[in-house]
Amino acid sequence: MPEEPMDVYEAIRRRRDVRAEFTGDRIDDEVLMRLLAAAHRAPSVGMTQPWDFVVVQDRQRLDTFAAHVAQARRDFADSLPEDRRATFDPIKIDGVRESGTGVVVTYDPSRGGRHVLGRHTVDDTGVFSAVLAIQNLWLAAVAEGIGVGWVSFYSEEFLTELIGAPAPVRPIAWLCVGPVSRPAEIPDLERHGWRSRRPLAEAVHREHYGRRDGGAPA
Ligand SMILES: Cc1cc2nc3c(=O)[nH]c(=O)nc-3n(C[C@H](O)[C@H](O)[C@H](O)COP(=O)(O)O)c2cc1C
Repeated sequence: MPEEPMDVYEAIRRRRDVRAEFTGDRIDDEVLMRLLAAAHRAPSVGMTQPWDFVVVQDRQRLDTFAAHVAQARRDFADSLPEDRRATFDPIKIDGVRESGTGVVVTYDPSRGGRHVLGRHTVDDTGVFSAVLAIQNLWLAAVAEGIGVGWVSFYSEEFLTELIGAPAPVRPIAWLCVGPVSRPAEIPDLERHGWRSRRPLAEAVHREHYGRRDGGAPA
């Protein structure tokens, strides 16, 4: 961990989705457990704590998943029109092998029983809760100098089988977690011209959706 504790705003500013900068070394188990403890402190609907974390470090299993991701990447590339494909081609979308550690975050909708306080109206709040655990882990990783990359190029069925998750447990993310050589300043997708960050002013609405900066709805 860096000597000076990192301000939370600084961690938010520095956080990046990491694909290319993993050193190839495996994360220290004590550090990994601190990250998982941070994830486990997330808020959750009805205090269900619907997440679990499957740590994958076996080389063969990493290779199997990496090959599956590579195929999903090819399928996506093939679905693109020519100009978008040319932009997409140089973009790396995972560091499954190089990170040395995959953390599969799962969501269990049955956790908390039939009467989940607060999920009776919005069912998605269950998945939202598990995603908050991911964000906790991601920010804690920044403070530890560890890189995290979220991979979603996979079939849910394939990953469910790979980790042996029993129904109704769903894998909701594969996180590549490992030491990094240097933190990237600019998001990869921005650097490659795929998409760029929206200005905050465009995302903030006053009173009504579409009313920005006190003006009339757009
Ligand atoms: C739900 C989710 C799924 C994502 N899946 C992938 C992925 O499969 N491959 C990838 O390279 N990045 C993935 N990302 C990372 C985004 O591309 C990244 O967050 C975005 O480009 C902004 O960059 P930054 O996180 O460095 O700010 C995912 C992010 C989220 C939140």
